[in-house]
Amino acid sequence: MRIVPIASGKGGVGKSLVAANLSIALGQAGKRVVLADLDLGASNLHVILGLPPPKTGIGTFLSGSSGPFDSVIVDTDYPNLRFVPGDAELPGLANIKPSQKNMLVKRLLSVDADYLVLDLGAGTGSSILDFFLMSSQGLVVTTPALTATLNAYLFLKNAVFRLLYGAFGTKSKATDYLESLRRDGASLQKAYVPAILEKVAVIDPERHRVAVERLARFRPRLLLNMLEDPKDAEKAQKIRRSCQEYLTVRLEHLGILYRDDMQNIALSSRIPIIRYKPQSILSQAIYRTADKLVSTEDEVDAPLSLAELEGSFQTAELEAESDFGAKLSYVEDLLNSGALTTGDLVETVKSQQFEVDKLRRENQFLKFKLARAIGQGFAG
Ligand SMILES: Nc1ncnc2c1ncn2[C@@H]1O[C@H](COP(=O)(O)OP(=O)(O)OP(=O)(O)O)[C@@H](O)[C@H]1O
Ligand SMILES: [Mg+2]
Repeated sequence: MRIVPIASGKGGVGKSLVAANLSIALGQAGKRVVLADLDLGASNLHVILGLPPPKTGIGTFLSGSSGPFDSVIVDTDYPNLRFVPGDAELPGLANIKPSQKNMLVKRLLSVDADYLVLDLGAGTGSSILDFFLMSSQGLVVTTPALTATLNAYLFLKNAVFRLLYGAFGTKSKATDYLESLRRDGASLQKAYVPAILEKVAVIDPERHRVAVERLARFRPRLLLNMLEDPKDAEKAQKIRRSCQEYLTVRLEHLGILYRDDMQNIALSSRIPIIRYKPQSILSQAIYRTADKLVSTEDEVDAPLSLAELEGSFQTAELEAESDFGAKLSYVEDLLNSGALTTGDLVETVKSQQFEVDKLRRENQFLKFKLARAIGQGFAG
């Protein structure tokens, strides 16, 4: 069974959208899929799938009132897709106990499916990191916004430290060393993995070997969502470089998805975009992502070469170019078919111009405030 955990540092970047639509696409491709809503305490995946509010879910299972785990797996009317609801209404579930988490991981691993897709909550809680590390090729979703890319990197940094703690075990010189770094928060923040490994190689060669092995297998995949412009694709490079330099982690790029206003309509109609508008650029990009997952199923045992990883970033940039072209010709088609009038288009451009002007004014105002604050600083 392939496990596809879907995580992000920042919230609201599209994890659940990707989890739902990717699972549907994999099911349509003939894979038997189980999709689990592990955003415990804030589950909303059933809404995106257009399913009624669940009566039972992971929360009821953990509280022991629902019987065996299989009884919380529900069928859906999407081909080959079964669903494990989370639980939005049981407060406190966001912080499950380690023993509960371990049991849940065990049950999830014993599910009978070709793909197990995990929609995770945002952030770097320890359960989230452990769910993410159930696969060596987990997906990290980000948007091109600076805060999102930074948090994507920080998420991976936390995942790597979780992995190191796992490799170093509970009682070892290596763990003592990590703990000493952690006690002095500032030095942990500055510490970068190559230097830590160098030190551990000296004080605890055995644990060093285990850590290096596990790190070599760790090949997370990036998914860049909500692009507006082909230039946005460049934002992935920064995460890639930081991961390589500071974490010794080699990222693979799984692809890009443009922002599509149609998604709002799909969401409020409670129909996943892939079913609502399968021909849209966004749906097509999701199919492309599913195809990549399927066509690289056997890579777990044969890791990509450096050149192939680099190639995955170039491919993503090309996708950003070609999807943008397709978006433009889509608008052109709408214009030609009369579905969109030139008047509509003019209105859209005008309202965007208005937004741009507003941002420009805000920007000037902030600059003004900043200049004044600096001036006062000097005066003081
Ligand atoms: N490519 C896209 N185009 C348009 N809207 C999008 C796109 N991706 C996501 N959205 C919208 O952005 C919002 C957040 O998406 P989603 O709920 O999937 O994010 P999330 O990462 O799961 O959030 P959370 O961290 O709260 O779980 C939703 O309203 C969703 O419809
Ligand atoms: Mg979500």
